[in-house]
Amino acid sequence: MQEILDELERRRAAARMGGGARRIEVQHARGKLTARERLDLLLDEGSFEEFDMFVAHRCIDFGMEKDRPAGDGVVTGWGTINGRQVYVFSQDFTVFGGSLSETHAQKICKIMDMAMQNGAPVIGINDSGGARIQEGVASLAGYAEVFQRNIMASGVVPQISLVMGPCAGGAVYSPAITDFIFMVKDTSYMFVTGPDVVKTVTNEEVSAEELGGAGTHTKKSGVADGAFENDIEALLEIRRLFDFLPLSNRSRVPQRPFFDDPERIEPALNTLVPDNPNQPYDMKELILKVADEGDFFEIQAEFARNIVIGFIRLEGRTVGVVANQPMVLAGVLDIDSSRKAARFVRFCDAFDIPVLTFVDVPGFLPGTAQEYGGVIRHGAKLLFAYGEATVPKVTVITRKAYGGAYDVMASKHLRGDFNYAWPTAEIAVMGAKGAVEILYRKELGDADRIAARTAEYEKRFANPFVAAEKGFIDEVIMPGSTRKRVCRAFASLRGKQLQNPWKKHDNIPL
Ligand code: HXC
Repeated sequence: MQEILDELERRRAAARMGGGARRIEVQHARGKLTARERLDLLLDEGSFEEFDMFVAHRCIDFGMEKDRPAGDGVVTGWGTINGRQVYVFSQDFTVFGGSLSETHAQKICKIMDMAMQNGAPVIGINDSGGARIQEGVASLAGYAEVFQRNIMASGVVPQISLVMGPCAGGAVYSPAITDFIFMVKDTSYMFVTGPDVVKTVTNEEVSAEELGGAGTHTKKSGVADGAFENDIEALLEIRRLFDFLPLSNRSRVPQRPFFDDPERIEPALNTLVPDNPNQPYDMKELILKVADEGDFFEIQAEFARNIVIGFIRLEGRTVGVVANQPMVLAGVLDIDSSRKAARFVRFCDAFDIPVLTFVDVPGFLPGTAQEYGGVIRHGAKLLFAYGEATVPKVTVITRKAYGGAYDVMASKHLRGDFNYAWPTAEIAVMGAKGAVEILYRKELGDADRIAARTAEYEKRFANPFVAAEKGFIDEVIMPGSTRKRVCRAFASLRGKQLQNPWKKHDNIPL
């Protein structure tokens, strides 16, 4: 009997060694943790339950039948993060470069199926040379099986991808379908075609880092939602993000103990908006002052910084925040910021996370680059996302809400539940200067007259009361009381029920 038990332990020990001590050393020398070390950090201690530790590939080409390591380059299973269930896979670069074989894909599919069935998120750690070259089309089929499950799981369970090494070719499309992608600086990259192919086809010389490193995807492409200094920081931050997310679209947002008074008044907010309407201020200050314990998990902090998105808690419950940022491009909406916020609002709506919107927006960014780039369609994404969302929506206009951007930013007309304005709000078709130049074009030569017209326009429209008279603003609130008002508003909406008309699915302007 003892022999049988020993055999199990021997096999387990061999599987845990992955591609062997030498390759583990190489992984460490690159500043990367192994697949198992990563799961140890991600999950609560002792909570990991592994599946398929002994699965081996079935390839018999290129001498592969002689090399069949247990686990086949991916560690899969489930565990908990602060006590809440999560399914995980972690590709093992020490085994055939973490490349994906038919059986490797089957292991991932198995835990994805279980996650869907049991209603728990999936976190995938990617560190792979792509399709297992020796397996050919069997490997491509494996990828497609994973993609199909990513698609079916979208909106059912949250899916998070951590890219902690190479992720190239068609392999990028699995993370691309998931809800969030996070990368590690200097050790991860993602691209559809690598630097060599780029050189051959377009004659561009570019390094892997420049083409698809963390900097590229968090700042230029917006493909990644965040980047971290190293594996440890990345895994600990994902634990933090996980705590904000519901387990599935069948469960409500998590509720955590909170120690922050929902009635807290912040007098400093009464002077946040400068007297000069053209002077910026940092919208993040408002977010931090409103959030429970000032805790804000920002998403895409480096991309399209003219809009800020992320998660906070109010009375211990998760709320998604979307806020124009006057510090960057005066907070205008443009192609990138519209796409960024639209995707976030849709994530929140899919998982029943209420949305809080802070508005200070002078309009859409003018210019040929924007028009040629399709700002009409991209801007419509945000409009569409807000309009279709049925979760509780609370909006606070702090300063400018001009033109179409006023409508877009969770206005009353898009089924905003509570639409508040600060006394400093200016709700109008456009700013005073632009309006006067159009309305009084003939008087433009007369500076005094124009100044008087501008003052008149400002007096009439540069305030929240015209909109409040019409009921488009439910209440003009003191800035310092924003946390209290917003907490009460969301509390009153906990029983909200709203359904869109039946349809197969909508046709959001993609
Ligand atoms: C099989 C692979 C592999 C792969 C790496 N290895 N990629 N084995 N299939 N795709 C093996 C190597 O042979 C090596 O084995 C070990 O993994 C480590 O690889 P190295 O090259 O030594 O590591 P490194 O120098 O860090 O380079 C990593 C790499 C490189 C940049 C990822 O290995 C590479 O370019 N691999 C091929 C990438 C690729 O073209 N993949 C197919 C893309 S197409 P030993 O035994 O020496 O340790 C694709 C399509 C997906 O993925 C389609 C989905 C629809």
